[in-house]
This record gives sequence, structure tokens and C-alpha cells, in this order.
Amino acid sequence: MTRRSRRLLAVCAALVAAGVGFAVSLRAETGYDLWLRYPRLIDLDQRASYQQSATAIVAPQRSATGDVIAAEIASALRGLLGVDVPRVGQPRSDGAVIVGTPSTSPLVAALGWTDALSRLGDEGYVIRSTTVGGHAATVIASNGEAGALYGTFHWLRLMQMHQPVAHLDIAEHPRLERRLLNHWDNLDGSIERGYAGRSLWWPDRIEQRVRDYARANASIGINGAVINSVNANPQSLTAPLLRQAADIARILRPYRIRVYLAANFAAPKMIGGLTTDDPLDASVARWWRAKADEIYGLIPDFGGFVVKANSEGQPGPQDYGRTHADGANVLADAVSPHGGIVMWRAFVYDADVDPDRVKRAYTEFVPLDGKFRENVFAQVKNGPLDFQPREPFHPLFGAMPKTPLMAELQITQEYLGQANHLVYLAPMWKEFLDADTYAQGAGSQVAKVIAGQRRTGIAGVANTGRDINWSGHDFAQANWYAFGRLAWDPALSVGAIADEWIRMTWGHDPALVSTIRSIMLDSREAYVHYTMPLGLHHLIGGNHYAPMPENTDPRRADWSATYYHRADASGIGYDRTRQGSGAVDQYRSPLRELWSDPATTPDQLLLWFHRLPWDYRMKSGRTLWDELVLTYRRGADEAKDLETRWTTLRGQVDEQRYQAVLAKLRRQSADAAAWRDACVAYFRTFMAKQPRP
Ligand code: GCU
Repeated sequence: MTRRSRRLLAVCAALVAAGVGFAVSLRAETGYDLWLRYPRLIDLDQRASYQQSATAIVAPQRSATGDVIAAEIASALRGLLGVDVPRVGQPRSDGAVIVGTPSTSPLVAALGWTDALSRLGDEGYVIRSTTVGGHAATVIASNGEAGALYGTFHWLRLMQMHQPVAHLDIAEHPRLERRLLNHWDNLDGSIERGYAGRSLWWPDRIEQRVRDYARANASIGINGAVINSVNANPQSLTAPLLRQAADIARILRPYRIRVYLAANFAAPKMIGGLTTDDPLDASVARWWRAKADEIYGLIPDFGGFVVKANSEGQPGPQDYGRTHADGANVLADAVSPHGGIVMWRAFVYDADVDPDRVKRAYTEFVPLDGKFRENVFAQVKNGPLDFQPREPFHPLFGAMPKTPLMAELQITQEYLGQANHLVYLAPMWKEFLDADTYAQGAGSQVAKVIAGQRRTGIAGVANTGRDINWSGHDFAQANWYAFGRLAWDPALSVGAIADEWIRMTWGHDPALVSTIRSIMLDSREAYVHYTMPLGLHHLIGGNHYAPMPENTDPRRADWSATYYHRADASGIGYDRTRQGSGAVDQYRSPLRELWSDPATTPDQLLLWFHRLPWDYRMKSGRTLWDELVLTYRRGADEAKDLETRWTTLRGQVDEQRYQAVLAKLRRQSADAAAWRDACVAYFRTFMAKQPRP
């Protein structure tokens, strides 16, 4: 760079620092680049210092992942620093970045770090500033190619976050082994509960788009994708569709993402020509084995199956008088010789099991603990109902010590404003992960329970689609990001994750960062306030967008809002104490005692566990009715305030994304006000009839 252009840049930097709009940094953005934007650094000293630590790239040769690593570093440095850094075989001067494993890189092998690397596993890594062949270098080393890839993104993140990179000594490893996205994508390209356009891969795909999806996932450590909906079309296991799955797997493989499939339990009959799907029938077992062999012939690193059985009309082993374990085991035996797994979903709610829907999964699954094959996970949603904005944790966590549980979260905002409302979900997930199950006494948080199993994993129902910004709402990208980061390390704080995402996605100005952080951190509670105050739940109707407390679904009571809130003149709420459904007894002491008494139940879950009169005296001293109305009002005010705070950022972020987010926030505050009014008016009709003393 010439001295003149250096000076010009310095002037521009000063203008930016002074708050004067800067055309380059505020160029219109579509959101396509997610948190991997790599905008040019303005601070020249910082740029010079990074340049010193990145003079050449040494990445594994003859390795697809090595090529991905080299390409990512090169494009990031081109963006951040404006330089083309060469890929070389050997460092010849100071400042090389050496990436690899002891088996892909003789340089890494020669460092003698083998023991330390094996302790961190194939996905863990070290990033260290050291000397190689007499030259200062940064080494990103792992026992496996995945770790080298994740370490690369970690190193790039340091620069994206404007952190120093000259003296590094970092060691990292993921706390959970399987970190999956579940795509509810149908073969026709529609996405169940998808709000960001059509499927990235069905029925066809744009290869670059799928590659960029994979890059984004790799940058946050996602290592698997279930590529079709849990409501699985049996056709997805036919040869032509498996060839397509293999093609997707080929694109994802260099990014260390394995493909998994949702399997329809009735596939042997529906596509295999068998007369039964009975899991204990020898022909059925043979069919699944042959199918698994066929899949592994096409996709050698195939991850396994997820199965939704005997739930919401899906076929399953109970159709033959068999148990969920019988069903899971026949598939598990088929994939086991290939190292595959089965994720058997516990999202079941057969009305015959118990009148209270939230009790059914526990009632059906706990007796099966110990009956599943070694390679089966029970996949359990965070809460016992269905991805509500707030639920107590699912009582199965900690209740099946012999069966690994895979936690299932929902990234797509089915019940949380879809792609219209800004709701940062990390606080909700963190509340779940930090919840104490008391399974082994106090201190048995969900995160500890799931990380302590012999197999570990977490799945998130994805929010990606073909919309240009991937997730429909620019802020919904943060939920994809946060899911990956929490899957990697559930101990990360929601604020720290938000800061990373904001700085990489929007910018570094401290006022900008703190305004966006405050919007994000307040958004979930605001949403809860205007949609499910005091633990009211499943008020949502129809398409799961707007609350419809009057909704009474003629098909099923437990799809109705009225079934859950039970409002009448005498009060409101679902009694789950022993006097009611007894669901509280599925939790361990002291939770069951605490939650049995309204006085010791947190306000946030009050009407989840209790049915109370309208004039019940709350901890605040107000009546239940007054508190309910106040909470609705507060929520609507908070939604309006999110919009107001955003408007202070005009000119500080690019106009395109600024306007896109503003339009959504306007809709959000209008919705919140309308929902407040509708719900308060509806509940008032009952409250007004309460018997007066
Ligand atoms: C929710 C969702 C369905 C989905 C189901 C599941 O009920 O509305 O679309 O199929 O969860 O998780 O299986």
C-alpha cells in the first residue's frame, strides 16, 4: 500500500470514528454473508499487526477440508486486511499460519503435541503462537480435520472481534459430540414451520448456496444435518432420493457435516413391498439392514436416522403392539455395523396415556429406560409441551439414566413470532440448559446431565431457507449462531454470544453494540409478556402465529387454547398439582414441592402449574387479574421500545438492513399491541363474571 492510500484510509477512519457516514463500511447488505462478512479493518495499526501474523497459509494438501481452510483464511484476510496471502508448503519467513493434524501436516507432527491433541479429541484444537523452523508462526492444530477447521474459524473470529492474535495459547473442545440441525424440509421444497423461503436442497439445489450454508455451520461447529422433515416422506429412502442425499453429503463433507435422514417407520410396507412394519418381524429387520447397507454404500459417513413414530398420526411400533424401544432397536441394529445412530423422538402424546398432554412422554418413555440399544438416543424437546416461549424443562432430563438423551431445541420461531418478531432465543435455551433437574441432587443442571452421558448430542430445528438473508429476519440469524455456540459450549453466556454475533454481523461501535445487545437480551422476555404471561401456554391457534385464546379445535382438545388456560368465572390456569393432573410429580424434589404451591412457584410458571381465582393475591400484592393485564401491557410497551431503540441506530448500520429490521419491528409492536388488547378483552369476559364475596 502506498503512503498516500494509507493516509487516505487514516482520514476515512477518523471520519468514521467521528460518526460521519462512511460509504464503504455502510454499503447496502442483504444479510447473505451472515457473521462471515469480513469487512475491511479501519484501524491501520491493527491491520498491520494482523498482517504480521498472517503472511502465508500452510494448510493440508490433498485434503478437501484443507482446501476449505485455505480458501476461508484467504478470503477472510482479503476482506479484513485487503491482502492476498499466499498458500505455501513451508513457512519461509515469520508470520505463517500453519493448520493441520499430525497426520495431514508433517510440520504439526514434528511439534510433538500429539498427547495434548489427543486429549482434545478430533474436534478439539489448539491455537498457539510458536516458532517453526526458526520462524515465528501461528499453529492451529488438531487431532482431526474437523478440529483444524473449527480452530481456523476460531482464529478468524479473533480478528473479526478485533482481538489480539500475536501471542495465542488456546485449547478448545466441544462439550457435546453431535451438534445437529434438523431441517423440516419436505421433498417438494416446502419447509414445515419454515419462514425463510424454500428448502436449500429439495427438490434441487444451488451448489454454492449449500456450500455457504456448510461454511456457516462449520464456523459454529455444527457437525450434522438431518436433511428431511421428521414427518418423513417414505420416498426419501428410495434410490433416486438417496442419490440426491449423497450429492448433498458430498457438498457438506469437506465442512465435516454428516448427513442424517428422517425415516418413516412404515417404509418397509410403503416403499419396500412388505406386508408388515412389525419391528419384531424378521423380514422387516432384514429390510432395514439392507436399506442401511444401501445408504452406507452411497454415503459412507452417513450419521443415522431420526424417527418420529406414533406421534401426530405417524406410523410406529405401537401399531403392532410393540414398544418405542422395539421400534428404535430394529433401526439401530441396521445402522450399528456402520457406526450409525438412531434418534428416536420422545415427542409423543397419545391421549390414551394420560389426559394431561405434558405428562405423556415421561409416562411412556421412563419404563423403557435400559431397553434401547447402545446406539439409540431418545430425542427430547426442551419442554414437555411443544416449543412454547417458556416451558419448564422436560422431566425426562435426568429421568432416563441408561438412555442417552439428545436435547431438541427449535431455532425456527414457530411459536415465537416466526420471521416477523425479533426474539433472541439464547436466553430461553440457557434457562433450559441451566435448569437444575436434581437428578443427582442439587447441581444436576440439564447441560450437565446431557454432557455427562455415554453419548452426547443436541439438535436444533433449523430456520434456514432460500431467502437471501437465510433466516427471514436479519436477527433470526443470531439464533442459528447462538444454537451452534451453545451446542459447542453450553456454559457460554448469552451476552457473550450476542456480542460475538453483533460485532461480526453489524459493527463494533460500543454504542451500537450495547444498543443491539439490549434489544436482543430483552426480546425474549418481552415476547413472553405479550404472548404467555404468568405461564399461560398454548394460547396460539391456527398457524401458530397470533394468540387465539378462544381457539377450541374440534379435532383434539389438546390442540385447543381453551384446554390449557381453562378460563371461566372461577379462575384461570391448568392445575398440575396432585389435586389436578399430578404432572408436578414427574419432577424431583424439591421442584415438585416448590411447584405444588402457588406461593413458591415462580410467577413465570404460575398458571402452567396452577389454576387460581382471578382475585388470587400475587407476590406483588396485586390480584392475579391485575398482574395479568399489567404483564400484557408491559410486553406491548417493551415491544414498542425495541423499535424505538432500533431507530437510534439509523446511519450506523447499512440502510438496507436497517430498514428491513425496522419494518419487522414495526410489525412486532403493532402485533404485540393487538394481541394484548385481544387477550385482555377475551379474559375479561370471564373475570367480569367471577363470583364476588
Ligand atoms: C410441532 C409442529 C409440527 C411438528 C411437531 C414435531 O407440533 O407444529 O409441525 O411436526 O411439532 O415436532 O414433530
